[in-house]
Amino acid sequence: MKPLLFRLNPEGAHHLIFFVLKVAFKIPFVKWIIRGMYTVKAPSLERELFGLKFKNPVGLAAGFDKNAAFIDELEPFGFGFVEIGTITPRPQPGNDRPRLFRLPKDAALINRMGFNNDGAAAAAERLKRRKAKIIIGGNIGKNKITPNEEAFSDYEQCIDILHPYVDYFVANVSSPNTPGLRELQDKEPLMKLLKKVMEKNASMPQPKPVLLKIAPDLTDEQLDDIVEIAESLKLSGIIATNTTISREDLKTDRKIIENIGAGGVSGKPVTRRSTEVIRYLCQRTKIPVIGVGGIHSAEDAIEKIKAGASLVQIYTGFVYEGPALVKRINKALVSA
Ligand code: FNR
Repeated sequence: MKPLLFRLNPEGAHHLIFFVLKVAFKIPFVKWIIRGMYTVKAPSLERELFGLKFKNPVGLAAGFDKNAAFIDELEPFGFGFVEIGTITPRPQPGNDRPRLFRLPKDAALINRMGFNNDGAAAAAERLKRRKAKIIIGGNIGKNKITPNEEAFSDYEQCIDILHPYVDYFVANVSSPNTPGLRELQDKEPLMKLLKKVMEKNASMPQPKPVLLKIAPDLTDEQLDDIVEIAESLKLSGIIATNTTISREDLKTDRKIIENIGAGGVSGKPVTRRSTEVIRYLCQRTKIPVIGVGGIHSAEDAIEKIKAGASLVQIYTGFVYEGPALVKRINKALVSA
């Protein structure tokens, strides 16, 4: 189906595939057939982390199912967990289209979606109705119009609303597409924000593991600060990494890249840097790291695990390689 889908605009293709899946899953047995085709079951794949039992270490990264609308359709493809979001407290449309671009020569995407989502209440409603039993991560952020000084309140509201329906939270401060958001990765604002997030979470009836998602573009010094903050606030984990703002070493024509404009690059161009960040973090802390960025093969996933990642996530690889990538990684892990 890839040649056909790649003729459509990327966002259109994304919606079409989900529409087809929704319809197909109404046919009896389709879900079971897909689950049988793609799921790898083995005790050696199971992982226990921050009090959660993952049936395998391969997750779907945030941004793919922003609104928790397709969990029942995604679970049969063999994921060990699905991260929804980024969710903001209030719904927002995101940036103008086009805002998602393919770079086939680089096996990459550039996106400047800008946290388009239906808001926390709508996501909570859908999560309540889901049938699939799978670990759900709730990736949360701030609305575009919320100033950074009040960002904590947006994260708190998301925790309030989503708390009963997710298994872990991710504070996302690393999207390049919400103006100023990445400044929240600096030591002082990050400490302030995460303190509030941790306090809010601790005040809930059942506190959930809280993770932080970071950009691949941070310096070693910034990574040191992140380790210090994560350890002092007892975060459950770090997700490394989000998309990059770098345009270095791309094979795609420079003119095309310039015409596309702002956005975060994902896929193969981030493979190496994200593994470097994972390795750097894991050499300095025992806090679990979820590795994400440019996993397009089982070897890419194994490299991230060797660098210290406890779990991995995929997004762009799922688009370019197709759903069988999840199975390929899990099979390789069983025989590794
Ligand atoms: C993303 N990603 C992302 N991450 C996040 O924390 N919140 C989000 O809303 C989104 N949205 C989003 C949209 C699109 C179109 C893409 C391609 C990516 C980032 C994603 O979760 C992941 O961290 C990076 O894409 C790197 O992994 P891959 O894509 O190279 O496997």
